[in-house]
Amino acid sequence: MTHTRIAGTGSYLPARVLSNEELSRTVDTSDEWIVSRTGIRQRHVAAEGELTSDLALNAARQALQAAGIEASQLDLIVVATTTPDMIFPSTACILQAKLGARAGAAAFDVQAVCSGFVYALTTADALMRTGDYRHALVVGAEVYSRILDWQDRSTCVLFGDGAGALVLSRSDSPGILGAKLHADGRYTGILSVPGSVRNGKVCGSPFLEMDGNAVFKLAVKVLGELVDETLAAHGMARGELDWLIPHQANIRIIQATARRLGMSMEKVIVTVDRHANTSAASIPLALDLAVRDGRIRRGQSILMQGVGGGFTWGAVLARL
Ligand code: COA
Repeated sequence: MTHTRIAGTGSYLPARVLSNEELSRTVDTSDEWIVSRTGIRQRHVAAEGELTSDLALNAARQALQAAGIEASQLDLIVVATTTPDMIFPSTACILQAKLGARAGAAAFDVQAVCSGFVYALTTADALMRTGDYRHALVVGAEVYSRILDWQDRSTCVLFGDGAGALVLSRSDSPGILGAKLHADGRYTGILSVPGSVRNGKVCGSPFLEMDGNAVFKLAVKVLGELVDETLAAHGMARGELDWLIPHQANIRIIQATARRLGMSMEKVIVTVDRHANTSAASIPLALDLAVRDGRIRRGQSILMQGVGGGFTWGAVLARL
């Protein structure tokens, strides 16, 4: 039977750091309010002209290096993003060219907002098990700074830019153990960027809109259910899980999920304080930061959990 495993990880945060304190000089907020409600201390903002594919490129190069794989060996590139460089072609195709990856390799984007990375990883894993692919690059990359209304304090303090990546390679023993993906389109209205491009004009708001309380409640509910559902499908008990890597949106959502599951926060990876909510990039960013600081080690079990606009939610269970 064909299996896949995570061969290497990488991440990238733009150089420009925007602290809560600096933000409070341009919008009516404070470091105290942001930290106590969200756990966020700072976010990174892409430079003028720095595109999602550029962020993805930096994270991808690091992941390839960690895996000991050349870009020319990639058979598949999947990018999860809600902020693509352009309407088309996909950011994955643009990344393929920037990386100098093999022409003819498959490349496409996945759009599932903050659940995008778990959707992309599940898709890549499934393709590798059935298709003729040896190495895949899976990236989550976003420039949310460009879809935020910087005068709206209820949303602009929450998000940031960044990218995370991993190389998935075919293997004899299981690395990716399984996944659960869900969506419920009835909740489109609680978190969206409603605008669209029509006949040369942007129609509707091009900025992120959110009912924060509704998102909070739904996120805690589905994330709690998701852990048990995913572990049960693989006959694993909560105690056997080494690490939970939740979507990095808000420390209170993460703590509420851990509480609901009776999990110690010592088994939960938290990086939201450093980069805020980077949507599809948040899970691979958190994974990479925790691999590089030595917390997550080879052989350990990890559960990656995404939740976001759509409403979408999903999890991938893996052994590193
Ligand atoms: N600074 C200061 N005050 C702010 C503020 C800010 N950045 N943003 C909102 N407020 C104010 C509100 O205007 C409100 O004032 P009012 O009582 O005078 O009307 C007050 O703070 C409380 O707002 P409330 O919405 O009740 O706060 P909250 O404790 O629920 O926290 C969120 C708000 C957005 C932090 C919280 O709802 C949340 O985290 N939701 C989930 C968001 C998320 O993670 N989305 C992405 C998921 S993928």
